[in-house]
Amino acid sequence: MKQIIPAICLALGALTAPALASEATFEKVKVDAGATLFGSECRRCHATGSDHESYGPPLENIVGRAAGSYPDYDYSVALEASGIVWTTAALRAWMEDNAGFMPGTKMRHVGIKDSTVQDFILAYLESITTRDGSTISD
Ligand code: HEC
Repeated sequence: MKQIIPAICLALGALTAPALASEATFEKVKVDAGATLFGSECRRCHATGSDHESYGPPLENIVGRAAGSYPDYDYSVALEASGIVWTTAALRAWMEDNAGFMPGTKMRHVGIKDSTVQDFILAYLESITTRDGSTISD
């Protein structure tokens, strides 16, 4: 009887390990797809770190960042005074219709309505967000 419990634990471990592996793989696929989409839709205006020239504000640590708060970036009044925080919901609304979401922004309208494309770009943006706000170089 005593041996049954470790045996069950082993069996459960064997069952959950592949599930964890495929979740990690799925997440990596999303981040990679997001990096590619970010490259075609956003990167021409947005660097992801302070070590590159960026026409728009660099987007490292954007998830959870207060809007208009990147140091020394010359934001529009609309963005700077918006008082919002870049949650994933706000980022979705922004990608979908930034000019409608925030009239007066100087970011050219992007209009990404496909929620799967939004998911991928969000996965990438999360991957370049560190919990402690430290800098990532790209
Ligand atoms: C044509 C250039 C351009 C493109 C393309 C572009 N952006 Fe922007 N983005 C800007 C500019 C300029 C601003 C600053 C807007 C302001 O001050 O009103 C900005 C601001 C932002 C902000 C607010 C950042 C902050 O610090 O508050 C986010 C988030 C953002 N862009 C995300 C994106 C994403 C995601 C994409 C791709 C789907 C994208 N942008 C594509 C130029 C661009």
